[in-house]
Amino acid sequence: MNLKVTIQFTAAFLTLGVFAQQPNYEAKVDSLMKLMTLEEKIGQTVMYGGGWDKTGPTVSTDNVKFIKEGNMGAMLNVYTAKATRDLQKIAVEESRLGIPILFGYDVIHGHRTIFPINLGMAASWDMNMVENYSRIAAEEASAEGLHWTFSPMVDIARDPRWGRISEGAGEDVYLGSEIAKAYVKGYQGDDLSKNNTILACSKHYVAYGAAQAGRDYHTVNMSEDELRNVYLPPFKATVDVGVETFMSAFNELNGVPTSGNKFTLRDILHDEWKFDGFVVSDYTSVNEMIPHGFAKDSIDAARIGMNAGVDMDMMGHLYRKFLKDLVAEGKVDEATINDACRRILLTKFKLGLFDDPYHYSDEKRQQETIYKPEFLKAAREAAAASSVLLQNNNNALPLDKTKTIALIGPLAKDEYHINGNWGGAGDRKGKSVSVFEGLQEFLKDNQIIYAKGCDIVKDDEKGFQEAIDAAKKADVVLLVMGEDHGMSGEAASRTNLKIPGIQPKLIKKIREAVPNKKIVLVLMNGRPLNLSEEISQVDAILEAWFPGTMGGSGVCDVLFGTYNPSAKLTITFPRNVGQVPIYYSMKNTGRPIPDNNPTQDYKSNYIDVPNTPLFPFGFGLSYTTFQYSDLKLSSNEIGMNDKLTATATITNTGTVDGYEIVQLYVHDRFGSITRPVKELKGFQKIFLKKGESKTVSFTISVEDLKYYNNENIFGVESGEFEIAIAPSSDFKFKHTFTLK
Ligand code: BGC
Repeated sequence: MNLKVTIQFTAAFLTLGVFAQQPNYEAKVDSLMKLMTLEEKIGQTVMYGGGWDKTGPTVSTDNVKFIKEGNMGAMLNVYTAKATRDLQKIAVEESRLGIPILFGYDVIHGHRTIFPINLGMAASWDMNMVENYSRIAAEEASAEGLHWTFSPMVDIARDPRWGRISEGAGEDVYLGSEIAKAYVKGYQGDDLSKNNTILACSKHYVAYGAAQAGRDYHTVNMSEDELRNVYLPPFKATVDVGVETFMSAFNELNGVPTSGNKFTLRDILHDEWKFDGFVVSDYTSVNEMIPHGFAKDSIDAARIGMNAGVDMDMMGHLYRKFLKDLVAEGKVDEATINDACRRILLTKFKLGLFDDPYHYSDEKRQQETIYKPEFLKAAREAAAASSVLLQNNNNALPLDKTKTIALIGPLAKDEYHINGNWGGAGDRKGKSVSVFEGLQEFLKDNQIIYAKGCDIVKDDEKGFQEAIDAAKKADVVLLVMGEDHGMSGEAASRTNLKIPGIQPKLIKKIREAVPNKKIVLVLMNGRPLNLSEEISQVDAILEAWFPGTMGGSGVCDVLFGTYNPSAKLTITFPRNVGQVPIYYSMKNTGRPIPDNNPTQDYKSNYIDVPNTPLFPFGFGLSYTTFQYSDLKLSSNEIGMNDKLTATATITNTGTVDGYEIVQLYVHDRFGSITRPVKELKGFQKIFLKKGESKTVSFTISVEDLKYYNNENIFGVESGEFEIAIAPSSDFKFKHTFTLK
């Protein structure tokens, strides 16, 4: 077809809305694909970066040239209504077919308004909150021209050495799956063609969080039943709620890189789960099959990636360079490329980009949307609802507004690290509220005696004396310490889980200087830390993670009791790094430690520390207390088609109102493969006024008890189960039922 005629034809096609009049998107994609050359179809499978954020090795590119040639289906790391509109204009007006570009970005825990890091948000156990926050992120991101976020990260992670533990929901399969669904619903909304909904992306498929030794990008070897019972369910949950895209991962799984893994990408994702969206590689992960030792060279990597089911190549340049020849040589079927292109185009239709390619890029909407007061309010609530009270000896918290406070620590005035890693497009300096600024809302200036004390990692002790003097002068000591934002996230694995640098030393010195004063430690960090020494040196510990734009205000709401802390850990805190990996749903072993003889020899234990963690999964304190009583089961025996109801009474026995996160656990006592000692099967976040009681009830069906056995059959076996309704994973079962 003559190029000029084609352009006119395309423009007319779009303006007259020929596509829009067609009844369904499939037919629209068919019509469009009939006009496309093989190169143009390959072009849709290619993603390059705008270079605003460098999240990996940059492969040099001439973006505008590729857009004009129809050689770029998607771009990452470009945002703002203007930038996206300008590039879209080139695609629509200057490429032969005028196919709009898809703009993607890492909107991980907020776009401009930054919420607590994902591990913190998970600690809220509040699905409405998670959904609402991802909705806000989508509102802001879409107003800046973005169509697609590379979120949620639904990798189960059980090794705090792994820096990316901060980006997920923690260690649990059930909770992780619920949270994964909430993110997708929030981002994608109920209608993708609206200009405020964006594509979600389930990543990193799969088992990325199980990297050996917690080292990022490292090898993963696991049985298929472990993969299916633990690592796949959150991904499957997102397919069930209609997630549009998946991202393959960097790691290999049982010898096969996950970006070239036909078993996980085609057999499971497409054939078993019937996923109808598209898969993007991780940043150059197709190329990385060469150093993995799986692909001979770049051509081979392109062949393996496309054939395995990676529909779009992020930043690798391999599809653009080699797919056409691979088709000519018969090494990649043209039908495979058609399928990838079709999936990508389908999402563009669903987003309404063929009706109006610019409907996301609206400068007025951008101005009106970002940092809306209600978004900032929601971020403040999120910071409070995510902060876990780990310790509160002698009721050190809440703080008394009439006292003077020594505010000490490298993160006390920080407004940079507070946004955490993957802080999106959130402005740090000048926008984020530090703890110091948060305190100013509650105290007069002369009630705050500030001293930085030390840096996060540097070992210069010259600020110690000033900090000690401040502690001596004040009524209460408030320490704000932790990691810097770059110590978690991608490529940020640590072998040492202590609070970094000389901060622990400063804590000790302050305790020695003021042995009888209350010391409160607020922590900001992206992973479970080893706090074994600090628990005896400070009175209270508030785990605030990296709490985001309104972090300082949200944290102070908790410190002063305006918000009664309710968050609970979704990840186990070990006593030391030697216990890692440690998680509540472990196996019992053949030699568990007997309850009545914890030090018995030749049992599965350590000789230097107990097996138990410092803080267990599901744990978090409140300013009130809750009593659990009266657990009742509707029956002690159920058949395969029956349901069981478990109820318990929860009473607020303290002096203030508050939320409680009530958890349901089950233990399948024996099976054709061994089952974890405890598995979370349900939870409810309830609000109880002081003195109030509520009956909480959970219904369990056979579906909830199913698992994959070692023949990879998903089913349930008759037998005995233990069951409990508990405030955390730290309890002993007292009730059982039998499945006949
Ligand atoms: C990360 C992904 C991210 C991508 C794009 C990669 O390095 O692993 O999680 O979405 O970069 O920025």
